[in-house]
Amino acid sequence: MGRQVLVTGGTGYIGSHTVVELQAVGFDVVIIDDLSNSSAEVVDQIEKISGIRPAFEEFNLLDSEKLEAFFKKYTGIEAIIHFAAFKAVGESVEKPLLYYRNNLVSLMNILDCMSEYKVANLVFSSSCTVYGQPDQLPVTENTPKKDAESPYGNTKAISEEVLRDVVKVTPDLKVIALRYFNPIGAHPSALIGELPRGVPNNLVPFITQTAAGIRQQLSIFGDDYDTVDGSCVRDYINVVDLAKAHVIAINRLINNTNSDRFEFFNIGTGTGASVIEVVQTFEESTGVKLNYKIVARRPGDVEKIYADTTIANSVLGWKAETSLYDTLLSAWNWEKRIRGIN
Ligand code: UFG
Repeated sequence: MGRQVLVTGGTGYIGSHTVVELQAVGFDVVIIDDLSNSSAEVVDQIEKISGIRPAFEEFNLLDSEKLEAFFKKYTGIEAIIHFAAFKAVGESVEKPLLYYRNNLVSLMNILDCMSEYKVANLVFSSSCTVYGQPDQLPVTENTPKKDAESPYGNTKAISEEVLRDVVKVTPDLKVIALRYFNPIGAHPSALIGELPRGVPNNLVPFITQTAAGIRQQLSIFGDDYDTVDGSCVRDYINVVDLAKAHVIAINRLINNTNSDRFEFFNIGTGTGASVIEVVQTFEESTGVKLNYKIVARRPGDVEKIYADTTIANSVLGWKAETSLYDTLLSAWNWEKRIRGIN
C-alpha cells in the first residue's frame, strides 16, 4: 500500500483526473464526494484506467460529524487535495450564501480535522480568478490580486487568505494553493472527462456539445475586445497536465521540499488563446465544422488573462506538455464516447 491521500471532490472533473495520476505513481487514494456535480460511476471509470479502485465515501463536507467519523476510520492519511467546491460563476451571483457557506465552511471543517487528526499537508484548488483583470500580462504569482468578479471567485480569494492565516498559527501545517487557469480536455482513454449538468457555462463543453448536436449553436461572447481578433483570451490548460501538478505538489509537501509553509503557483500553459482561435483549432483537430455566431459580451468576463509559469516551471519543475490541438481532440473524443458517436 502506498501513502494515503484524501481527495475531496475526487469524482469531479479535475479531481478524477488527479486520482488517476496519484494512483499511477503509487499513492493510495481515498475520495470524499457528495456527488452533487458528479456520479458514482466515475469511481468505476477510474478503476478501469488505473486497475485500482479508490476508496470512496459519499457525504457533504459541511457535515462535520461525518467528516470526524471519516478521519477516525482512515487513520493513515498523510495529505489532502481539496477540490470539492461549487464553481458556477453565474449561480454564485444568484446564490451567494450557498457559495460562501459551501466553499468556505467545507474548507474550515477540513482545517479543523487536519489539526485534530494531525494531517499536515494540504493542496488547495485555487483559481486565476483571484487576479481579476490584471493590469499587466502575463500574470505572475506576485501580480496584485483584484476584487473578485463573483461570489465564486471571492470564495477562492478568501480561502487563500484563510489558509495563509491558519498556516501562520499552525506550526505543522503546510499548504500549496494551485491557481488554475482554464482547465479543458479529457483523459486520453476518454473514460473520464468533464460532464456539466444542464447547459454548459464553459466554452469547451459548449463547443463539444454543439459539435455533438446537443446544442444548436455556439455563441461567442463579444468580438470587440482589445485582443488579436476581438474575442476574449484565456490560458487553456490540459486537465491531465493540471492533474500532474497536484502530484508534484503533494510530493513537495510530503518530502518537505517546500521553502515556505504556504506557497501558491500559477498552473497554466503561459500562452493565451482567443475564443475564435479555440474554435478554429477545434475544427482543425477534429475535422468537425462548428455552427457559431458572434453575440454581445458576457457580463463579468475579463478581456484577457494568461499565466507566467516561470515559478511553477522552476520551483515545482512542472510544465504544461499537451498542445491545445491535442487537448481539444481529447475533449471531443470524450464527448463522442459518452454520446455514442463514432
Ligand atoms: N465563451 C463563449 N461562449 C460560451 C462560453 C464561453 O464565447 O458559450 C467565452 C467566454 O466569454 C470567455 C471564454 O469563452 O471569453 C472562456 O469562458 P469559460 O466560461 O469557459 O471560462 P472563464 O474564463 O469565464 O471562467 C473560468 C472558470 C471559472 C473561473 C474563471 C476565472 O470556469 O471557474 O475562469 O477567470 F472563475
